[in-house]
Amino acid sequence: MNKEKIYILAIESSCDDTSVAILENDKVLSNVVANQDIHAKYGGVVPELASRAHQQNIVPVVQQALKQANIDKKDLSVIAFTRGPGLMGSLLVGTSFAKSMALALKIPLIAVNHMQAHILAHFIDSESQQKPEFPFICLTISGGHTQLIKVADYFSMEILGETTDDAVGEAFDKSAKLLGLPYPGGPLIDKYAQLGNPRAFDFPNPKTKKELDFSFSGLKTAILYFIQRHEKENPNFIKENLLDICASIQFTIINILMKKLKKAVQQTNIKKVAIAGGVSANSGIRNALKESEKKDKWEIYIPDFEYTTDNAAMIGIVGHHKYLKSDFDSSSISAKARMQI
Ligand code: KG4
Ligand code: ZN
Repeated sequence: MNKEKIYILAIESSCDDTSVAILENDKVLSNVVANQDIHAKYGGVVPELASRAHQQNIVPVVQQALKQANIDKKDLSVIAFTRGPGLMGSLLVGTSFAKSMALALKIPLIAVNHMQAHILAHFIDSESQQKPEFPFICLTISGGHTQLIKVADYFSMEILGETTDDAVGEAFDKSAKLLGLPYPGGPLIDKYAQLGNPRAFDFPNPKTKKELDFSFSGLKTAILYFIQRHEKENPNFIKENLLDICASIQFTIINILMKKLKKAVQQTNIKKVAIAGGVSANSGIRNALKESEKKDKWEIYIPDFEYTTDNAAMIGIVGHHKYLKSDFDSSSISAKARMQI
């Protein structure tokens, strides 16, 4: 029997990337991401500017995604879009565009939870990534989120733990800022960390009320005091010790993540472990997972890089699985800045 071909146009606009993807069932035909460089000079995302940039980007990005996929809009079966969580002004651009496009083309509309999408990115059909079997544990780590999730099925997910303050990507970026590195500093800390001594300096391991929750704001403060203390004695302290400081910060953050992940595996007795989100590019977390694959006999799942950072292909794969259940939304649906998984 021939499988029905479903063509999905997916839109992601929850933060500072405007992205549009075209999928044929679970295969990605195109995945265009327009980054917004404007935020770098402010040292973080400025919501007003993000919303404005989405408005400028959305039409050309849609056109480029269709062109790259070699698909005409009349061939589309469904429009999927990020409903939330995210920045309201940014979400509104994608949501209203998706609603108008679905109405104009007279095709169904599917609202997608961005956090589910980060996880379901593992189910995109790609030669270089493996699809996990249910149930598995997913650690979603990015600039906006830090969550430990038990994934029982495509749409059956339970939060085991999450951050009570900063997201892990924020912890990387804010530490980088204290060291005078440009935004987003996470990848730079990672780069320098690989050349430094991870045990050169000690940073505290923050306590949380719930065992599987995370907290990173204390670490940021500890790093600030650490730098101030050392700079008093040696104004060149950062410059002379940058590699070791980065390695020690990364070592501390990865230890926090791995400690919680190991507890979650122990509590659930599930040894299939996936990571998702922009911080999964980090070499420290990748190495730590590979170590646990060998030592603790975990099965680990690391997504393709292009599906870890915010992208519309991950929204499209959720659209695909919702389409199969005919789980459609009405055009009266609205964006939601806060949304549980
Ligand atoms: O998923 P993402 O693109 O956007 C959000 O949804 O937030 O993640 C971006 C975050 C930034 O905080 C960035 O610094 C961090 O991921 N990041 C990294 C690395 N690559 C990206 N952090 C540490 N090491 C990396 N290699
Ligand atoms: Zn995200």
